[in-house]
Amino acid sequence: MTVEVFAPAKINLTLHVIGRRTDGYHLLDSLVVFARDVGDVIHVEAADRLELTVEGPFRKGVPTDETNLVVRAARHLQSLRAVQAGARLRLEKTLPHGAGIGGGSADAAAALKALALLWKVPPPTPAETLNLGADVPACMAGPAPMRMRGIGERLDPVPPLPPLWLVLVNPGRHVSTPRVFSLLGSIRGADALSMDEMRMGWDFEAFHAWLSGQGNDLTACATEEVAEIGHVLEALRSSPGCRKADMSGSGSTCWGLFKSAAAAHRAAETLAHDYPQWWVRMTAIN
Ligand code: C5P
Repeated sequence: MTVEVFAPAKINLTLHVIGRRTDGYHLLDSLVVFARDVGDVIHVEAADRLELTVEGPFRKGVPTDETNLVVRAARHLQSLRAVQAGARLRLEKTLPHGAGIGGGSADAAAALKALALLWKVPPPTPAETLNLGADVPACMAGPAPMRMRGIGERLDPVPPLPPLWLVLVNPGRHVSTPRVFSLLGSIRGADALSMDEMRMGWDFEAFHAWLSGQGNDLTACATEEVAEIGHVLEALRSSPGCRKADMSGSGSTCWGLFKSAAAAHRAAETLAHDYPQWWVRMTAIN
């Protein structure tokens, strides 16, 4: 039996850093959504030992040993559910890594879901995966949009969002998450947030009006570190039909928001043509 699970790109439409814990981790408040059709795929099948192979356009530089989050996730599930069996895991890497869109976390969550099916054990709860990385619980809980708080462990459903179209652009530069957090100057207080204002039944314009008052607190620091992020944001913002653009996570992937699939499609085609060195994808969200 082979089990195949899709690992969609995770996108932060807002990201507020509202505090810092004594262990250095930051407290976040973020609206997290998942791409409908842009992501990696993990395939698992029965085997005596754990083995990982990586293929696909972004396989270069992805380790296949115990340092890969997918292998760590598999070991975590084995010990959590006292599983003796192994598995052959095959990861199709189509998302850029170190890119602010979940990459490793999405893969780890997809591997956990696939292995739970293969081994016929309950999948871990999102909270049981926090030790694998701050974004893993959200990827376990997805793909419905959610509000993510704490360092990533506090997940709450949000009112249904209107149909949204995103163009994702990565300039091909890796960004170090700890480095970006370390560049963060002042931290806003929780009272500066307006996430509580999200309402049921919003159409695109109402959602857009709310989103316009939001942002990603890490965008400025990441742009200081990697100037191309600023170029990507400029290019997205000047694309016809782009209603807002910002960075996801700690970068370097940015998103542009469009009201229609046709406008997003045109922008993605133009950007891919004008900047062949960039990774450009269009997607709806779940
Ligand atoms: O948990 P994860 O491995 O994804 O985090 C990578 C690094 O990002 C952490 O070591 C920490 O420096 C930073 N981080 C943070 N606050 C978070 C998430 C990540 O400071 N909520």
